[in-house]
Amino acid sequence: MKHLARRITQTSPKSFGMYARAAQSGRDDLIHMELGRPSADTPAHIKEATIRALRDGEVHYSDLAGQPHLRAALADKLKTRNNMDVGPERIIVTNGLTHGSYAAIMAFLDEGDEAILLEPFYPQHIGKIELAGARPVLARLDAANDYRIDPAAIEAAITERTKMIVLINPCNPTGRVYDRDELEALAEIAIRHDLIVMSDEVYEDILYDGAQHLSIGALPGMGERTISLFAFTKSYAMDGWRLGYMVAPAAAMDALLKITANDVTHVNTFIQEGALAAVTGDPAVLAGLIAEDAEKRQRLVGALNQIPGITCPWPQGTIYAFPDISGTGLTAQAFADRLMDETGVVVEAGSFYGAAGEGHVRICFGSVTLDEIDTACARIRAMVGALQPTPA
Ligand SMILES: Cc1ncc(COP(=O)(O)O)c(C=O)c1O
Repeated sequence: MKHLARRITQTSPKSFGMYARAAQSGRDDLIHMELGRPSADTPAHIKEATIRALRDGEVHYSDLAGQPHLRAALADKLKTRNNMDVGPERIIVTNGLTHGSYAAIMAFLDEGDEAILLEPFYPQHIGKIELAGARPVLARLDAANDYRIDPAAIEAAITERTKMIVLINPCNPTGRVYDRDELEALAEIAIRHDLIVMSDEVYEDILYDGAQHLSIGALPGMGERTISLFAFTKSYAMDGWRLGYMVAPAAAMDALLKITANDVTHVNTFIQEGALAAVTGDPAVLAGLIAEDAEKRQRLVGALNQIPGITCPWPQGTIYAFPDISGTGLTAQAFADRLMDETGVVVEAGSFYGAAGEGHVRICFGSVTLDEIDTACARIRAMVGALQPTPA
């Protein structure tokens, strides 16, 4: 349509990967492991607090940055769990993490600016960078090096147009939880080149085998250049609620509010009481949800590693496994396509997250039941077992 803005017509069309292919397939027997949608229900005390708020008439406009008592509780959480000493005036409640990242990108990136993403990347961040008229630049991480942060790859991607580095920690799709050395190396580069870091920490709570999550915004010198993004989405099974929050340098707050106040005014007043219940509620509830994910991870990764041609590193966090399927002789996309077409199991091709993901698929275990994991693994085993050996 000729009236459309250049920001629509001159950016890449959004791809929904295997999710779109599954929707078009018309099949109703699929096992959906392509989407990061938690299978658990939102805990009851969170729902109850929200229903109470509605009954109590919390239905009107409220503070643009989010309810002050919620932001005070979030500031406490940030201090104790993220080692970030920020007051409520440095926090904006957002419509999920996506809204926070959109605001950060719109507030910081001009046309022609460049933002570096670590590859494999999370495709949604690319769309927002392009909508801002900026250019995503990829710093490729290496599967052979466990997708560790590679300072040399980041340095090589920096030009005089670079303004931002996008970090996802714990990482979707690889399941890596970056350690202090990796984060310090990235922080050192950001400080030396005077760059902003946008840190997506949507999986901060979903950690396994004693992995520790560190917020890069808590490192020395990073508070003044980091936009830290959090959400209730994955931790509390609240993906449909659209609820998150961002922490930013004091000097950026007016700029960020200029975006959020113009695009949504503020997040729904009554659901913020649900957020308060989540963040102040019994920590055993969160631990229970994560224990379920841990059991599913155990079942999936254990079974995948029994299948000849597949090697699956144990994800340190998130709800995804990122197995290497190159031993089957198929490309990532061919593997995902055949798996869906021949067995009804839907996973995402690693190449959907950039060339660095080739040879892998991303399998979400948080979106299905243990029984579905068992069925999916049996079907994967059968498909791989039936493949013709590839000619040497
Ligand atoms: C890395 C990452 N960031 C952001 C999101 C979206 O979060 P929200 O639903 O809170 O906008 C997801 C969802 O899968 C994700 O994996």
